[in-house]
Amino acid sequence: ELKTGPPKKERNFVKVMQQQGRRVIFFYGSQTGTAEDYASRLAKECSQKYGISSMAADIEQYDMSYLDTVPEDFLVFFVMATYGEGEPTDNAVDFWDLVSDEQPQFSENEDEETPLKNLRYVAFGLGNKTYEHYNEVIRNVDKRLTSMGAKRIGECGEGDDDGSLEEDFLAWQEEMWPAFCEALGVDENSASSGPRQASFSIEELTEVDKAKIYVGELSEWLKEGARVVYDAKRPYNAPITSKDLFKGSDRHCLHMEIDISDSNLTYQTGDHVAIWPTNNEVEIERLAKVLGLSDKLDTVIRVQAVDTAASKQFPFPVPTTYRAIFRHYLDICAAVSRQTLMSLIEYAPTEKSKEVLRKLATDKDEYRVRVGDVTRNLGEVLEMLAESESLDVEGSFSTVPFDLIVESVSRLQPRYYSISSSSKESPKKITVTVVTLQYTPESSSPRTVYGVNTNYLWRLHESINGIEPDISYPHYSITGPRNCLYDTESKVARVPVHVRRSQFKLPRNPTVPVIMVGPGTGVAPFRGFVRERALQKKEGKPIGPTILYFGCRNSAEDFLYEEEWSDLFETLGESSRIITAFSRETSQKVYVQHRLMENGSEMWDLLEKGAYVYVCGDAKVMARDVNQTFVRFAQQFGGLEEDKAHDYVKNLRNTGRYQEDVWS
Ligand code: 2AM
Repeated sequence: ELKTGPPKKERNFVKVMQQQGRRVIFFYGSQTGTAEDYASRLAKECSQKYGISSMAADIEQYDMSYLDTVPEDFLVFFVMATYGEGEPTDNAVDFWDLVSDEQPQFSENEDEETPLKNLRYVAFGLGNKTYEHYNEVIRNVDKRLTSMGAKRIGECGEGDDDGSLEEDFLAWQEEMWPAFCEALGVDENSASSGPRQASFSIEELTEVDKAKIYVGELSEWLKEGARVVYDAKRPYNAPITSKDLFKGSDRHCLHMEIDISDSNLTYQTGDHVAIWPTNNEVEIERLAKVLGLSDKLDTVIRVQAVDTAASKQFPFPVPTTYRAIFRHYLDICAAVSRQTLMSLIEYAPTEKSKEVLRKLATDKDEYRVRVGDVTRNLGEVLEMLAESESLDVEGSFSTVPFDLIVESVSRLQPRYYSISSSSKESPKKITVTVVTLQYTPESSSPRTVYGVNTNYLWRLHESINGIEPDISYPHYSITGPRNCLYDTESKVARVPVHVRRSQFKLPRNPTVPVIMVGPGTGVAPFRGFVRERALQKKEGKPIGPTILYFGCRNSAEDFLYEEEWSDLFETLGESSRIITAFSRETSQKVYVQHRLMENGSEMWDLLEKGAYVYVCGDAKVMARDVNQTFVRFAQQFGGLEEDKAHDYVKNLRNTGRYQEDVWS
């Protein structure tokens, strides 16, 4: 019955709540799944601990113009992430537009001044302090709701993904729940923490038609002939080709071409492409082993919400197998959360391992040093616990109910990459520039942590190009049944992708000068920008000065797209050039910001002529240093006092003339 797709959903959430007898709804605006996790956790606590029927809901699935019809004794939660430059997540764009409107149109629209005077809400935002517009989405939502007469319950919480998101979330709840109880007239002391109630039922199936088992697909199968829209919820399995851009280096940087010509996907220069990863076999086997599932990996199971009216009935397409769940659906390689460890304490095999686990789960510093900072995943922590007590690792945690794993381990999420091609030049071929990530977090132990997606892409690269697999890399099964992996016969590899629009765009007028700063793989979007401008120039359009600052370790090894630049800049003409900073060729480090400084007066001239500035790459140090460099220009060449110079750069940002595409 899955093949027919879900029935049309009721869009009026108030009606849904009333029909299902729920008083509280937890809307989430989520990009990478964290806000969704948080909303589900809150909803579960609300129902279980306080006995109030509630639901978590994807804000995109409901018509938010019914906010003015929410009954006075209901409560609406907003758990909203801020993305990039103060942007809402993809699923929250409509809601964002609604509340940003000066005179939002609500369903009844009876009271123009305070249409939301009956609404009571709770707010928590997820943001990242590395970015300029910290938690702008929740702050703005909160401000707007209040100004339209709604009443906030408790403080508007804010979590910082760069610091301690989880800790901020837990701390906020300490004050929030008492306020929540008061608002809903619940006696906080009568809250019961009774035995755990499962959110999902797990059923092992014995007789299933093989063709009906999901083996890694990210959405349910479509009916034959149905029109497909590929998006974050239904990625497209795109064929890829690739090459390594680094020379004579033990590191690798893939230039990967993603062919979208057989799909209706489109993109624009400067957008991001999402690639859905696959977990490596080493971690799958490790986790299966401690959970006692090694022999059952191919057992077919159905996982379904216990609450049959929950808006999400299945956490991933089912029926599926334990193996597919570990390989494709759960984020088993991420550092395990304190919350997950907490829920596992009661299943630890011995009193001593319970104690160790309790300490890891409750002592923030202990957790940070042994789990968070060193990215120890669930399997590794459980294995470490068993080993430290000299227990047989196999099955040492086999008493953990599998539904608890499904509930507490996040869904595997796509990784986003800046597109390095120009849509004008190659509208149906997207390229990305991906450096393989691996590091040794503890000098005392030989453990290596591997970037989940980049190493999986590398493995695909080896297969497509007939390269002998590097055995020091983790092993990925890439010839599995999932249709987006490597096909041994056709030698075609596919990866599931979708495109995310970004604001990171060249000025509309091509004569406007641009200054681009992109060390390392931060150069990716600028390859697209430079190619686009060179193409326009070839078409006879006048093109303004195009300056690219690129930095890498040395010119012989990791100079990305070295062979391409000279032609491109020759086409662009003498007012355009690439300026390089090779950090490891001289005794003193030379970085892009040093090169900027050397060319300060010329850059200032361009700014005075209306230049746009673009920065891409590391958010924490590089982007800050570059920002500071522009502040110094304003002081040195513009004669501004320090705080005025900061305002100058802020103003550039606010007018879209200083754009960042950065990551941390
Ligand atoms: P390093 O690794 O030699 O320190 C791409 O990663 C390039 O960016 C490398 O040359 C790297 O230099 C350089 N880099 C590292 N930190 C930087 C910073 N804070 N600002 C600018 N460039 C930096």
